[in-house]
Amino acid sequence: MANAYLDVGIQSRMNRIINPKDNRVVMLAVDHPYFQGPTTGLRNMSATIKTLLPYCDCLMTTRGAVRSNIAREDLGSKPIMLRVSGGNSVLFDELSDEQITVSMEEAIRMDVAGVAVSVFIGSANQQQTILNLTDTINCAEEYGIPVLAVTAVGKNMARDLRYLGLASRICQDAGARIIKTYYCEEFSKLVDWVAPTAVVVAGGKYSSPPDALQMAYDSVQAGAAGVDFGRNIFQDENPVGMIKAIGAIVHGNHTVKEALDVYKACMPGAKKLE
Ligand code: 5RP
Repeated sequence: MANAYLDVGIQSRMNRIINPKDNRVVMLAVDHPYFQGPTTGLRNMSATIKTLLPYCDCLMTTRGAVRSNIAREDLGSKPIMLRVSGGNSVLFDELSDEQITVSMEEAIRMDVAGVAVSVFIGSANQQQTILNLTDTINCAEEYGIPVLAVTAVGKNMARDLRYLGLASRICQDAGARIIKTYYCEEFSKLVDWVAPTAVVVAGGKYSSPPDALQMAYDSVQAGAAGVDFGRNIFQDENPVGMIKAIGAIVHGNHTVKEALDVYKACMPGAKKLE
């Protein structure tokens, strides 16, 4: 039988990331500049984070963003999911060529709740990125830090159950505590294949409030622990309305129609983020 004491650090951090009351999470992804530079909605990163931080459960971001853009008093006890893989940019066609960019000592010093590593399954750098994940898990688990695996996709990969299920299952087998993947048809099968590992859904390119909220709704209905959305929140004309509406779906079990009412209620005075 596993010694429960060995997992106390992991469990305590998992409870900071995923609310143990309902096993759900609204994670806000603002890590895009690590390869995209000044992303729309994140050009004034401090303002974006300050505006949206109160409404998320956990902030997925980078070391530089924490250092440069978040005032300690704004952060409070909000847990950080720290991206620790990178090394590429949108100027280069092959995005999969990543390595580990932040040491575990630094992550501990920053008191992060978890660390995130991308894997590019099926890409030219598949092995390197899986080993980035396993090396990070080997190190992070020593300190009781859970690792979130991001199933990033290459340009030519289909975002279907076959591909995303394969990528997610590889992440689970590597030892990831949380898997971030894209929504696809028959998503509940993917959730079952990796159970009991928590799954969070990435938003992808900006779409529209009804479409993004439908995806959040379908994801949690299929068994996801929640979402890790970025652009569909911070690039919307009503970003606070959007994150509140997502929270209403994830934690309040609202329908899409009810969540759209939450969104619309925040529309007066809504301000687009730079
Ligand atoms: C990149 C990431 C991003 O955080 C992810 O794409 C989520 O943001 P969005 O909802 O904008 O797609 O992990 O690999």
